[in-house]
Amino acid sequence: MNILAIESSCDETAAAVVSDGRNVLSNVVASQVDLHAKYGGVVPEVAARVHVQAIIPTIKEALNAAKLDWPQIDAIAVTQGPGLVGSLIAGIETARTLAILKDKPLIAVNHLEGHVYANWIVGKISNFQSAISNQIQNKKSHSEAMKNPNLNTQYPIHNTVPQFPLVALVVSGGHTMLIYMKRHYNFQIVGATRDDAAGEAFDKVAALLALPYPGGPNISKLAENGNADKYEFPVIDLTPEPKRGKDGFLVYPKPSLDFSLSGLKTSVLNIVKQCQSHTGCGIESKTKADIAASFQKTLVDTLVQNNQRAIAQYKPKSFILSGGVAANPLLRSGLEKLCKELKVEFHMPDLNYCTDNAAMIGAAAYYKQKEFGFIEPRSLVANPNLKLT
Ligand code: KG4
Ligand code: ZN
Repeated sequence: MNILAIESSCDETAAAVVSDGRNVLSNVVASQVDLHAKYGGVVPEVAARVHVQAIIPTIKEALNAAKLDWPQIDAIAVTQGPGLVGSLIAGIETARTLAILKDKPLIAVNHLEGHVYANWIVGKISNFQSAISNQIQNKKSHSEAMKNPNLNTQYPIHNTVPQFPLVALVVSGGHTMLIYMKRHYNFQIVGATRDDAAGEAFDKVAALLALPYPGGPNISKLAENGNADKYEFPVIDLTPEPKRGKDGFLVYPKPSLDFSLSGLKTSVLNIVKQCQSHTGCGIESKTKADIAASFQKTLVDTLVQNNQRAIAQYKPKSFILSGGVAANPLLRSGLEKLCKELKVEFHMPDLNYCTDNAAMIGAAAYYKQKEFGFIEPRSLVANPNLKLT
C-alpha cells in the first residue's frame, strides 16, 4: 500500500511516499529553520503562511522522487495534531482537498504516533532526498543543506521492526514521554515531563549561550569540544520519599518515571550569570563548550535514569527512541549501551526520521488504517492539543 503522507505541524513542510509502512520511496522536507532563526524561535503566523506556499511544490517533489503518479497512490495521510493550529490547517486542508479530488481514502495521524512509528521504517534512502527539499524553500545548494550537523553522522540501520511489548521514549521540542505498547496502536503513557520538554530545554539553554535556533544540534556540536565534568548540574528524581507504614517499617514507592527538566535550565542560567559577572561581558568560548557538555550529559543522564526504571518495571522486548532529540549522539549511544546491558533490543530511527518529517506519518498511517480504517475528509479538523490515546 503506497501512502502519500503530509506533515506540517510546526516549521517543516514535509511530504513523503511510504510503502507498506516501512519502505520510504521519497522523503521531502522543506525546512523553515532559517526564516525563524532570526527571531530565536518559531513565529506561528510566518510558519502558517510559508506552509501554504511550500506545500504543493513539496508534494509534487515527493511524488517525483518516488517516481509515482496519482494512480499508484492508495491513500493520503496527514498530521491532525498536536502542533500550531495555522500550520496544521495548511496540511489538513491540502490533504482533504486532494483526498476528495483524487478520490483517495484519508488517514489522520497524531504527530507523536508518527515519531513512534519512525522506528518501523527499515532501510534508508539517501540523505540527498531529504536535503534536496531545502532548495524548494531556501534555494540552497545541496552541499549547504548537508551542513545540518544532525546529518553528518551515519548510523547502522536496523532491518528488523520493534517487538511487542515495547517501551518508547519520545523526546521532541514539545514532548517528553515514556510510552508502553502491548501491541500496535495501543499507547499507555507511563511517564511524562512535569515542566519543560527535552528539546525545549536544549533550545532554552542554547539561547542562554547565545547559540542559534534550533538549539539541540548546536549544543551537541559545541559540546564535542567541552568538558562534561566541569559543572555539576542536578539529575532530578521525582520519586516520593519513603513513608512509614502502620507496622513502623519504611514503605518505598515505585521509582518515578516522570521528568522535571526546568531546574536544570535554571542551574545553567545561574552558572551563565556567574561567568558573565567574572568577565563583565560575554562568556569565553571554552567555558561555553564546558557548560554545553555538562548540560547535555546531565540531561542524558536524567533520561537514561527513567528509561532504566521503565525497562525494569515493564520488561519490554524492545526499547525504541524517537523525536527530534533522538538525533542527539550522546543520547543515542547512552541508550544503546543501557539496552545492551539490560539485554533489551534497541531501536532508533535513521537521522532523517528523528526531526519532523512526513515519512514517519506515512509509517504510522499504515498501521492506523489497519486498526481504525479511514476518516471522512469533510469531518477532519485540526486539533492543536490532540492527545495520544
Ligand atoms: O521532533 P521535532 O523535530 O519537533 C517537534 O515535534 O517538536 O523536535 C525538535 C527538537 C528541537 O527542540 C531541537 O532542538 C531538538 O529537537 N533537536 C536536538 C538535536 N536535533 C534536534 N536536540 C538535541 N540534540 C540534537 N542533535
Ligand atoms: Zn515532532
